[in-house]
Amino acid sequence: MKNRIAVYPGTFDPITNGHLDVIERGLKLFDGLIVAIAESPVKEPLFTVDERIKMVKDAARKYKNIKVESFDCLLIDYVRKKKANIILRGLRVISDFEYEFQMALTNRKLAPDIETAFMMTAEGYSYLSSRFIKEIARLGGRFDCFVPPNVAKMVKEKF
Ligand code: COA
Repeated sequence: MKNRIAVYPGTFDPITNGHLDVIERGLKLFDGLIVAIAESPVKEPLFTVDERIKMVKDAARKYKNIKVESFDCLLIDYVRKKKANIILRGLRVISDFEYEFQMALTNRKLAPDIETAFMMTAEGYSYLSSRFIKEIARLGGRFDCFVPPNVAKMVKEKF
């Protein structure tokens, strides 16, 4: 049977429990998962790429068959370089759909051999976003329930 390696790309600034839920369920479907951290300079991330790699590695330490890397090229080029052929994305609320649909169709046009698979985020995390976590932290609110403990610590250190 074919070795199915999926790439789960995102900015992960920071990684949340919602992302971890997608990782955990993705690992049940694929033989291996590469969490690919986009540098995303346009989003002006709070954490450097190295910090984001570290926080994802620590948060996903208990999982097997997972790699955590960064990339700064076209996603489809990275997927090919890794000899993978699936892009995994989480879908949260309906508003994600339009953006995800555009991205999946653009990637398919550029690389018809690469498939995008969507996974519904667990309903408990369907409203979560990294931006909100940073905003709550900046304003002194509690956000520990949205992120793994190592991430909560790193976010607190930033503010
Ligand atoms: N649970 C909780 N939150 C989630 C989530 C989940 N399961 N899935 C996504 N999110 C949130 C993220 O926290 C993020 O929140 P924010 O906007 O407040 O920071 C938001 O949803 C979407 O971010 P993310 O999933 O990280 O995706 P992105 O839009 O930042 O990343 C890339 C998109 C990196 C995949 C895309 O820009 C890309 O492929 N870039 C490479 C260049 C390229 O190939 N471009 C052409 C694309 S067609």
